[in-house]
Amino acid sequence: MTILRIEHNVSLDPYNTLGIAARAHSLLRVRQPSDLQALAEQPRQLERGHLVLGGGSNMVITGDLLALVIKMEIQGRTLVEETDRHWIVQAGAGEVWHDFVAWTLQQGYPGLENLALIPGTVGAAPVQNIGAYGIELQDRFHSLDAIELATGRPFTLDATQCRFSYRDSVFKQKGEGGLAGKAVITQVRFALPKQWRPEIGYLDIERKMAEWGITGPTAQQVFDMVVAIRRAKLPDPAEVGNVGSFFKNPVVSREQCDDIIGRDPHIVHYPMPDGTVKLAAGWLIDACGWRGKSMGNAGVYPKQALVLINRFHETGIRATGGEVMTLAQAIQTSVYERFGIRLEPEPVVV
Ligand code: EPU
Repeated sequence: MTILRIEHNVSLDPYNTLGIAARAHSLLRVRQPSDLQALAEQPRQLERGHLVLGGGSNMVITGDLLALVIKMEIQGRTLVEETDRHWIVQAGAGEVWHDFVAWTLQQGYPGLENLALIPGTVGAAPVQNIGAYGIELQDRFHSLDAIELATGRPFTLDATQCRFSYRDSVFKQKGEGGLAGKAVITQVRFALPKQWRPEIGYLDIERKMAEWGITGPTAQQVFDMVVAIRRAKLPDPAEVGNVGSFFKNPVVSREQCDDIIGRDPHIVHYPMPDGTVKLAAGWLIDACGWRGKSMGNAGVYPKQALVLINRFHETGIRATGGEVMTLAQAIQTSVYERFGIRLEPEPVVV
């Protein structure tokens, strides 16, 4: 039997970008896939449940954790294959997402530039099919390797098997065939296009191009614009604790949207190909007057109402997960009372 190096009573403060103070009763650092196979040989370690931790950038911790924390630290990034149309690039689940994106561009493989500066790790990216500025992870995804926790069995999934949709994948699904809580991603591969065209249809990018006087941007220029746009309106987790967007953008029927437009003509909405309409949650929250407001040590970011923050940098007292969730619920209630829409949190609450 392989010896598992499990650490006890570990502070999670540096491992969650919201900066909530919490401890893990036990924590396993996974540096190679075989660490997970060794874990499967000792099922007792999983008796109290488990939690997979990547960059901790999509998680609200509401107390000390008794469940085993599985901290993904598998490194490595390589070109594994080259076809006529793509570079297939692989990265370990523990790689920092933004550093990986920057590396692909340095190597001359474009395609991930719109996803620059999204906090978190490579292994967490497919779980919620991260997306920004007109590109979702699924647009560049090739395949991934994962391990079934209970058996230690490795397996590979392609894009169809991952069942990607808006901020969702098989790794979040609990029903038929869902893998939530059952598998851990170890490596992810991306198909980066040789016939690359910039994805610049997004309003913020159009504005930035005009501002910088760029017409046909290179991938590196798109990367630089996305970094500048995000820095201007999203807080840096190293300075202000946050988990990016706190709620998903809700999708409603055309009728429901028309009804709201009747009352609020300025509502920001995006018609979807299937006839539904996506609403900007940030706008809804802002319209309810929450931008810049706070409750205890949790607050709403003044430049983007969709982002909830830990006010530790202002108050010197760390917000608890409970305080953040109290604020989130108050926001949900006012958006529901005014618009009849239930906002769904994006991060995992543990
Ligand atoms: N808006 C307001 N007030 C606010 C915030 C936003 O009126 O306080 C309006 C904006 O003016 C804009 C609209 O709402 O017209 C949408 O805002 P934005 O362009 O900032 O994008 P978003 O819908 O809030 C989504 C993603 C982000 C991603 C951006 C850019 C979700 C939940 N969020 O935000 O993803 O970076 O688009 O593509 O889909 C994340 O998931 O953590 C994340 C940051």
